[in-house]
Amino acid sequence: MTQDELKKMVAQAAIEYVVADSIIGIGTGSTANYFIDALAEIKHTIDGTVASSEASAERLRGHGIQVFDLNSVDEISVYIDGADESDQHLHLVKGGGGALTREKIVAACSRKFVCIADDSKLVDVLGEFPLPVEVIPMARSFVGRELVKLGGRPVYREGFVTDNGNVILDVHDLSIVDPRGLEKQLNDITGVVTNGLFALKPADVLLLGTQDGVKKLER
Ligand code: 5RP
Repeated sequence: MTQDELKKMVAQAAIEYVVADSIIGIGTGSTANYFIDALAEIKHTIDGTVASSEASAERLRGHGIQVFDLNSVDEISVYIDGADESDQHLHLVKGGGGALTREKIVAACSRKFVCIADDSKLVDVLGEFPLPVEVIPMARSFVGRELVKLGGRPVYREGFVTDNGNVILDVHDLSIVDPRGLEKQLNDITGVVTNGLFALKPADVLLLGTQDGVKKLER
């Protein structure tokens, strides 16, 4: 199976976690897109969705699935999204698609976070994938210098603006042995909106698409 086929398989498997008559949180990226397409088949069973990006909202609406503003929703039963990396503890690196801030918000509001990924995303130590950090535009250089002090090599994602009107620094050369500590440390830099570490609130379930089928890891 190709990587895309693995993503599609794991997205289909996540349908089992959809709670009937509830609001579903929807992530961003190619794996989340496959999930949206699978969700369209059972859209009559749910009350609607909250999307973590304009792109996902557009795809959901294209399927005739209702998308609510988060502020008009009391509870999200489950959040389903991909990741760029996961370790065995279900600490994640996310934000390759630049939607990390809204993803973290929707995940925080959800009772359960089910992460879906192909098995190339499972790593021993996070950090080979450059860690995305969303930054207020005027603070870009200052935050960049602070990230260098932490041992990283920030690279400005040129030509990219987040749905929130901010910029992204992708931080290379980090070996993230303490994901929770680093997540806090990065959040403390003035000008940082969010960082792509999901360690303080990791995924609850990780579904991995492998050549031998879907493998489940749970916290
Ligand atoms: C977007 C994300 C995605 O979940 C992550 O980039 C994985 O993407 P894909 O499913 O395309 O491999 O965090 O901001």
